[in-house]
Order: sequence, then structure tokens, then C-alpha cells
Amino acid sequence: MPHWLAQLLYLVAAVLFIVGLKRLNHPATARQGNMISGAGMLVAIVVTLLDLGQVNYTVIIAGVVVGSAIGLTGALSVPMTSMPQMVALLNGFGGGASMVVGGAEFLRLYQVGNDIPTPTGVVMQLSLIIGAVTFSGSFIAFGKLQEIMPGRPITYPGQQWVNGLLAIVLFGLAGWQISTNVPLLAPFYGVAVLALILGVLLVIPIGGADQPVVISLLNSYSGVAAAMTGFVINNEVLIIAGALVGSAGIILSQLMCKAMNRSLANVLFGAFGAVVTAGKRSAEGLTVKAITAEDFAVQLAYAQKVIVVPGYGMAVAQAQHQVRELADLIEKRGGAVKYAVHPVAGRMPGHMNVLLAEANIPYDKLYDMDDINDEFAETDVCLVIGANDVVNPAARTDTSSPIFGMPILNADHAKMCVVFKRSMAAGFAGIENELFYGDKTWMLFGDAKASLSKLIAEVKQV
Ligand code: TAP
Repeated sequence: MPHWLAQLLYLVAAVLFIVGLKRLNHPATARQGNMISGAGMLVAIVVTLLDLGQVNYTVIIAGVVVGSAIGLTGALSVPMTSMPQMVALLNGFGGGASMVVGGAEFLRLYQVGNDIPTPTGVVMQLSLIIGAVTFSGSFIAFGKLQEIMPGRPITYPGQQWVNGLLAIVLFGLAGWQISTNVPLLAPFYGVAVLALILGVLLVIPIGGADQPVVISLLNSYSGVAAAMTGFVINNEVLIIAGALVGSAGIILSQLMCKAMNRSLANVLFGAFGAVVTAGKRSAEGLTVKAITAEDFAVQLAYAQKVIVVPGYGMAVAQAQHQVRELADLIEKRGGAVKYAVHPVAGRMPGHMNVLLAEANIPYDKLYDMDDINDEFAETDVCLVIGANDVVNPAARTDTSSPIFGMPILNADHAKMCVVFKRSMAAGFAGIENELFYGDKTWMLFGDAKASLSKLIAEVKQV
């Protein structure tokens, strides 16, 4: 294939990536966006193979078959609640691939005895370091979310110093390799091993529930590593794709942090989720009112304005279909149902949107926090389905609370609020929620799916 044609087709692939990314902006176009980006990647791979000329297709096809079989099995069998773990693994493999490609190019130059020009040396070391950190860090993130290892932050005295020292040695070795220009095995393996260790050490102090932010950040790293590898092997489309992933990942991390009113540094170094002592307002002396599905059904059946606030518990219970069925019943009786989606409800970006879309709830009934928060005051009934932190009024009033300053949904402003959860257990932030003790709040205890099923049966009787 002429080089100019390859370049032109790479440009087409890059345009497809960008259009695909843009379409991922909204649940209605997201699937199409995925397909468009996938088509871009297919173009990039085919062009690269044709451009390379001499390729061992047996190995390539074997790789495609094995990789596709693993990917397909994973994607079909992984439940929605485990998606963040799956993304962590995919990021890890992306970082691992950059590490291996960068490393292989280094070893090739070592074997032929070629010098490594300084600019190539820099990108090679970066591809190795960032790829390795992403690889090992992603596996720790996976382990924490899959509960194979403790989700709580693992901390010890002098942790930051140890990490800092390791980073200095690591970059010292990389600097040595870059400055000599002659490929040396000792610093090469030293850098690879230390970067893998650093990836583990950087992620273990971060709490299990903060892992979505870490995963998004590691996603960004995997993009940067891929871009560096693109420079190493002179592949433009890898540089473009890597840069897109790198910037998308960092933007998403920032958005999540903003929605939690925390800085990225706080997520990475704050050991959030360790035993919280400050801001743990006691619920001593306060009482909660429980309600049964039977009693609640009567009030809900005549409600005119209803807002559903979904949270992580809805995902755990997989109750989205029952939510939809209940909403259909209310609407049939003349009520209006809207869904208030907090940007960090659940455990991954867009978690609630995806689940509600799966239950065929129309997108125009899903409202972002800022668009619906003023409507709670005129709402007859607010149904809080497995949400906790995202409706915790302490975020507004308790300056010592770990979630102080996080924008929340005004569920406490509704005329009546019913919370579906199994117990009085805390949510991700590990703190009490005053909403549960409010005058206008009732608790409907039990698994959200089971409670909703009972409620649906009762509303049908009214
Ligand atoms: P949480 O505050 O984590 O509360 C979830 C609640 O669901 C728990 O209190 C739990 O109470 C209940 N629950 C669990 N299983 C249930 C079941 N089967 N049926 C009914 N209820 C069940 O959730 P949230 O309000 O969605 O807030 C999300 C939190 O995650 C925020 O603090 C956010 O900052 C954090 N976070 C989110 C993200 C993203 S991107 N979404 C990223 C990082 C961190 P019981 O155990 O009593 O049932």
C-alpha cells in the first residue's frame, strides 16, 4: 500500500474515532458511537497490516481469534454491576500492550546493536513506565472492586516517602538509559520491574469505592502510554488514538471529582474510605419511621408528581425493570414520573443512565441534578431507590462531613420521601444520613427489587 494512502486512511480512522467519541455523549447515540469508533479501529488495524507489508498472518489471526473469544465471553457474561472491573482489566491490558511493544522495540535495538536517539529513548522509557504502572495498577483496581483484595485503603507510615523514593530511583534509571543512548539491559529491566511495583503501590492506598476515578485515570494513562508507543514505532494513528483516550480519561476523572466536590489529589492521596472519624454525625436519639408496601401503595397510587432517585442499591438489586413497571402504573393512573440522576450515583459514570435505559425508560424522563433540583419542593412523593450519599443533606450543612460541599439531590424537599434500602447501613462515604430521620421520610426496608415487586402488586389492588 502506498504510504500516502495509508496516511489518508489513518486520517479517516481518526475522524471516525472523534465522531464516535462525540456520539458517546448521550445514551441515545452511545451505541452508534461505539460502533463508529470500532469501525475506525478496524480501518486503522487493516491499514497498519497492509502498510507493514511482510506480516505473519497466522500469528495475527490466532491473536484475533483468541482475543475476540476472551473479549466476547467477558462482555456477554459480565453483569452490569461488574462493568467497572471489566473496564479496569481492559485498561490494564492496554497499558500492558504499550509496555510490551515499547519493550520489544528496545530489545530489537539491543539485539541489532543500534544506538537509541535521545528523543526515541525518552518516548520508549515513557511507554514502558506508563504502560507498566497502568498494567499493575489496573489489576489492583480490579482486585479491589471484585473484592478479591480488601477494598479499604491500605496505608502505612511513610507511604508517600516510599513511593517518592521509588519514583526517584525509577526515573534515575530511565534517565541513565536515555543519556547513554546505548541499549543496556540492566536499567531496562530495572525500570520495568520498578514501574510495575509503583503501579501497585500507587493504587493500594485508594479506597474501593474511589476505584472508578482511579480506573478513569488509568484509562487516561493507558492512552498516554499508547501515544508514546505510537512515537516509538512511528505509527500516527496510535498517537492520535492514544491522545484521544488520554484526554478523554483525564476529563472524565475531573468531572467525577467535581461532582463529588473533591480534588483529584484528595482521591489519589486522601485514603478516602478509611475509618472516618470526623463528620460522622451520630444518629443517637433520632428515630426512623418504617412503612410497609401495603400502606405506601395507597398514598403512591394517588400521587400526581413523583420523582425517582436511583442509586447504587438499585444497581445491586437490579431493580430497574420494577422501577419502570411501577412508573407505568403511576402514569396509567394519571401521575407524572421523572427520574433525577446524580452525576456520581452508583459506582461508575452513567451507571444509572445505562440501567434505566436497559429498562426502556425514555431518555427525556431522565433529568440531570441541576435541571430537576428545584422541582422536588412541588413533588408529592420522592422514591429513593438504593441511593444514600447523593441525597445526604449533611453535604449542605455539616462542614466536618467527608461529603461536605458535594452537590446533592433535594430529596428532603419533597412532600413525602420513601427510601428503599435493606438496613440503616451507610453508603459509600460511610456516614449517617439525616434524610432517613426526617419528618417527611419513611423507610421501606428490604431488597429494592423485592420491595418494588410487592409495591407493584399492592398498587394494582388500589
Ligand atoms: P451509596 O451512597 O453508596 O448508597 C447505596 C445504598 O444502597 C446503601 O446505603 C445500601 O444500603 C443500599 N443498597 C445496597 N444494596 C441494596 C439492595 N439490594 N436493595 C436496596 N438497597 C440497597 O450510593 P449512591 O447514593 O448512589 O452514591 C454513590 C456514592 O459512590 C457517592 O458517595 C459517590 O461519591 C461514590 N462514587 C461514585 C462514583 C461514580 S462515577 N458513580 C465514583 C466514585 C465514587 P443497605 O445496605 O442498607 O441496603
